[in-house]
Amino acid sequence: MTTTNTRAAIPTARRVHRFTYAIRNIVAEAQRVEAAGTAVKYLNIGDPVAFGFQTPPHLVAAVERAMRDGHNTYGPSAGIPAAREAVAAEYTKNGFPVTPDRVFITAGTSEGIELTLSGVVDSGSEVLVPMPTYPLYTAVLAKLDAKAKYYRLDPSRGWMPDLEHLRSLVTPETRALVVIDPNNPTGAVYPIETRRKIIEFADEHGLLILADEVYGDLGFDGPIAPYGLLDPDAPIISFSSLSKAYLAPGWRTGWMAIGRSPRLDDVAAAVRKLADGRLCSTVPMEYAVVAALTGDRSHQVAFREALRARAKLTVDRLCAMPGVSCVAPTAAFYAMPRVSLPPGRTDEQFVLSLLRSTGVLCVYGSGFGLPPEDGFLRIVFLAPLDELNAIYDLMADFTREYLR
Ligand SMILES: Cc1ncc(COP(=O)(O)O)c(C=O)c1O
Repeated sequence: MTTTNTRAAIPTARRVHRFTYAIRNIVAEAQRVEAAGTAVKYLNIGDPVAFGFQTPPHLVAAVERAMRDGHNTYGPSAGIPAAREAVAAEYTKNGFPVTPDRVFITAGTSEGIELTLSGVVDSGSEVLVPMPTYPLYTAVLAKLDAKAKYYRLDPSRGWMPDLEHLRSLVTPETRALVVIDPNNPTGAVYPIETRRKIIEFADEHGLLILADEVYGDLGFDGPIAPYGLLDPDAPIISFSSLSKAYLAPGWRTGWMAIGRSPRLDDVAAAVRKLADGRLCSTVPMEYAVVAALTGDRSHQVAFREALRARAKLTVDRLCAMPGVSCVAPTAAFYAMPRVSLPPGRTDEQFVLSLLRSTGVLCVYGSGFGLPPEDGFLRIVFLAPLDELNAIYDLMADFTREYLR
């Protein structure tokens, strides 16, 4: 007779061991530092509301109204028609013709990405992902038992994608290509010629393009057109949300728009099926999607200007530190400086020492897939200018000592 040890820990799935998310994982160490009495300056999470930027009042009003009007039921799995129409109209106005039946309202960009990858990859499939990447992609692919193949972004060329390297990675298992443009974690925006080459490459190999355009409205010089503008018939799916440019990350509300190419009909059907399985996204917040895309956006003008000023300060201060270099971002709220580490040291060791000595919390570049010895780290520069200046004072003193 076999007996079971009922006192043993309940076993967990193997996929969890492959799942890492440095941006949040590092917070455990920050909490220890805080408990030991050092105030932590959290520059790890890209949440503009946490740094004092306010959700536009007409979006809050739209959600309140929806709740009072009784829109507290489950909704259609693809989203309420008015929100889907608003998203389709927005893309169409921006040159990427999309119909409402190809739009899904999702729990942030994140859920759209997860639904799409779940709909197109099998165990062992490969997806081309930028390096550095936003870690959601590798985390989801790990869950799906699929493989992220990293294509290099080149810091010596303003973090542009290395297209030769990208081409060299295609195999018969490759299903899709991820572009994050404007980019997290680098703050880069790709020129039209680069975008065109990426689309041609994907087209040529029959790959789906996941265009992560969640920072599309946050170019310092103004909104950036969607990828689909360049070729509305290419197999492109665009993802965005209320989290960044509409200052409501906690609402977990976003959208995905599937291009009109008949090559995407099956993908649209697969996403529809999977979306049914999770019922619907947050219904009252879907009313805010309508308010966001059809209403006043003047908050974005001020937000972009605030970001431009913070980016300039960040790059000026970082580049003035001996042993530190940084490509100037042109969108979003991230900078990816490089510290010339002594041989044998890693980016994680640097970031943890910085945290323990000064309370400044950044994320190490290897959390985004970069080699640990390269010495990159990501800074979220959403804090007010005076706070950033004080933080960069601490970083400058620490780095001087560290590299001595
Ligand atoms: C590139 C990128 N994609 C997706 C997301 C997830 O955003 P959401 O809140 O819309 O799920 C983020 C959040 O930081 C991001 O930087």
